[in-house]
Amino acid sequence: MAKSRTFQCADCAASFSKWSGQCDGCGAWNTLSEVKPLSSGPASKTLGGRRGNPVALSGLDTRETPPPRTRSGLGELDRVLGGGLVPASAVLVGGDPGIGKSTLLLQAAAAFARAGLPTVYVSGEEASAQVRMRAQRLGLSDAPVRLAAETNLRDILTTLEAERPALAIIDSIQTMWSDNVESAPGSVSQVRAAAHELTRFAKERGVSVVLVGHVTKDGQIAGPRVVEHMVDTVLYFEGERGHQFRILRAVKNRFGPADEIGVFEMTGMGLAEVLNPSALFLSERGTPSAGSVVFAGIEGTRPVLVELQALVAPSPHAQPRRAVVGWDGSRLAMILAVLEARCGIPFTGLDVYLNVAGGLKISEPAADLAVAAALLSAREDAALPAETVVFGEISLSGALRPAPQTENRLKEAQKLGFTAAIAPAGGKTGAGNGMVLTRPGDLTGFVGEVFGAG
Ligand code: TYD
Ligand code: MG
Repeated sequence: MAKSRTFQCADCAASFSKWSGQCDGCGAWNTLSEVKPLSSGPASKTLGGRRGNPVALSGLDTRETPPPRTRSGLGELDRVLGGGLVPASAVLVGGDPGIGKSTLLLQAAAAFARAGLPTVYVSGEEASAQVRMRAQRLGLSDAPVRLAAETNLRDILTTLEAERPALAIIDSIQTMWSDNVESAPGSVSQVRAAAHELTRFAKERGVSVVLVGHVTKDGQIAGPRVVEHMVDTVLYFEGERGHQFRILRAVKNRFGPADEIGVFEMTGMGLAEVLNPSALFLSERGTPSAGSVVFAGIEGTRPVLVELQALVAPSPHAQPRRAVVGWDGSRLAMILAVLEARCGIPFTGLDVYLNVAGGLKISEPAADLAVAAALLSAREDAALPAETVVFGEISLSGALRPAPQTENRLKEAQKLGFTAAIAPAGGKTGAGNGMVLTRPGDLTGFVGEVFGAG
């Protein structure tokens, strides 16, 4: 009987039974490679007539105590983990090369070690001397972290087995190779096998494991998506290269809320925690100008104010440009279409650029109204009144929907010295606390109230 084969995309981890040049899942080219099964031992043959052992079943009403957590003392990291590190958990930290993953995890290793967790840091990318030099520069040399530079998975597991730390950091999963698997380090099969072994080790031996994964654009090495489903927690470390802000974002967390963010600043002395992100994201804001709008957003469990910048200019191209950084391009197209169809404000023949200041990526629909405000302000060359924040969702009909947590957004705005807010009617504002509220019923009303009718 012909054996069934599996091919997997290194970018999006979609599986196919046949090889092809282009991935049907994400459209990337030359990213499919064959995946060898992880084990072909007796376990996979148990259905061939042999009986399994009965598994104990239990009710839903057994009282479970929440897992004990260890806090590193790096508040932003602890927050994103859901309140600290859970024992025997597997965490993936993904991000672009050079964004600061190794710096973050060396600092985390030192912090957890100082907090009393026996910690091992395995670097597959840098020599021990390099890691030690970095530790020295960051003032972490005295932290009781055990260090190794190694890529052989079998040797690493043997070492961890003997050492039995509470936390093992593997930097990075793409440099690990298992001699059980024939393909090269960094391939889908290797990355999957290494992650599988390490997460199994975490569960069986009660050791928390943090895997570092590089996000790859070209598909030459397998991206972290391949292991996302195996781990308990997936964190992405994001930021713009030219900016010093870095955001650690939980996209999956079995032990805490997803979508939580931690904000850091890359300094000459490593990553510093940013305790008031709103102040930081607004720090580069000059005097109010056309196209600039402050959006009162919610990231995870806390409100964050951020500046949106729009530029609208006559286009020299037959096909005007639409460029967006930090927000969703198709959502921008939708806002432009609604402004044209419902308010009669066309953007034909105009280039439109939208930027979220500070390198933050926003995915909240509540940013719609702030984006519309920035676009209109840029188009009309009219600045919004100073010290005003904007938020609210726009529907295709041009109706406005109140954003969740209206009250929290207003509180944060007030804390940072804003005195006015534009938000759809309907949301619970609480006391209002002296903020001047403009509450349009729909997008046409908003255009009329804020920019004068027309
Ligand atoms: P690194 O942690 O090596 O990135 P990754 O592991 O994600 O590839 O960080 C690399 C960048 O960070 C490098 O360009 C230098 C910068 N950096 C600082 O600005 N300050 C510091 O204290 C450190 C250690 C690094
Ligand atoms: Mg690194």
